[in-house]
Amino acid sequence: MNAKIAGVGMYLPERVLTNFDLEKMVDTSDEWITKRTGIKERHITRPDEFASDMAVIAAKEALEDANIKAEELDLILVSTISAEMVSPTAACLVQKELGAVNAAAIDMNTACSGFVSALIVAQQFIRAETYRHILVIGSDTMSKYTDWEDRTSCVLFGDGAGAAVLSPCEDGDGILTYEMGADGAREGVLSIPSLKFSEEDLARRGGKKKRTFWMDGSEVFKFAVRIMCESMMRSLQKAGLEIGDLDMLIPHQANIRIIDGAIKRLGISPERVYANIDRTGNTSSACVPMAICEAYRAGKIKKGDTIGLVGFGGGLTWASLVMKI
Ligand code: UT7
Repeated sequence: MNAKIAGVGMYLPERVLTNFDLEKMVDTSDEWITKRTGIKERHITRPDEFASDMAVIAAKEALEDANIKAEELDLILVSTISAEMVSPTAACLVQKELGAVNAAAIDMNTACSGFVSALIVAQQFIRAETYRHILVIGSDTMSKYTDWEDRTSCVLFGDGAGAAVLSPCEDGDGILTYEMGADGAREGVLSIPSLKFSEEDLARRGGKKKRTFWMDGSEVFKFAVRIMCESMMRSLQKAGLEIGDLDMLIPHQANIRIIDGAIKRLGISPERVYANIDRTGNTSSACVPMAICEAYRAGKIKKGDTIGLVGFGGGLTWASLVMKI
């Protein structure tokens, strides 16, 4: 038995922040952001709107799409790096709001690769026949961690949530193969502290320079292009498939130049790679599930298609999989 997507949903906050709005906040331009990142606008949560709130809205859509009741869920996995509470988890808050009284609830954090990692975890429970219906959500409010005075990072991120209900299917369908990994030795390349560190602590921790979000953009860029290609190829090889066998590749949406670099290196036709970064920015865990949802609703992917998902993120971490939808 494999895990197969039975329904999808997504949520983008109402407020849109354009590059022109950012021009009024920091020393930047629409031209620079568009050329260097491909982002035109992103959605930003209200001050009283949090990761679990977005997750609940996306989840309700996914349950309706799957025609599954909340009480039928066995497990809720929420991938997030921006849950409003350390405890209880966002997954517990979602469980309460949905009334999913029979579901266990766990948060997962592998940063931007988190949704793909969570699908891989869900696959284990379904293959083992421990659970039948698993709700997997990626929800992040990156805007709440953004340093709005730092032009090198504040232009990159947005908020959003995407969800998928996974249910059992026959072998040869659903998630076929996967691959994931981590390189903790490079933790200093991309980081968000959760505590207020002293200067000494900061100096000790991988040379990080800031108390808030810290990123070595060019290092992340090089890592991203390389690992997305290597990981995707490893998952394809395990399935005995080639890049040309994918009907659609859905990568993490961090920078259109990273996606273009991967397209070139993988030798896949750009029409078979889904990108929505121009409208959403980098929404961390939400990028991949929102892209799946959009692509499905737009008829760009359909039942029976073979798709590849690939993500990378802080940690450093990565994950990819091949699935029939
Ligand atoms: O989920 C993972 C999260 N992060 C990522 O995936 C980020 C990966 N990295 C990137 O996307 C790119 O490295 C960035 C978009 C962050 C930066 O693009 P870049 O082409 O590598 O630019 P750069 O850092 O080399 O900066 C070029 C110039 C610099 O000025 P000087 O030193 O050449 O005078 C920057 O100060 O652009 C300047 N700059 C800006 N100018 C206008 C940096 N940010 C901005 C800005 N507006 N927002």
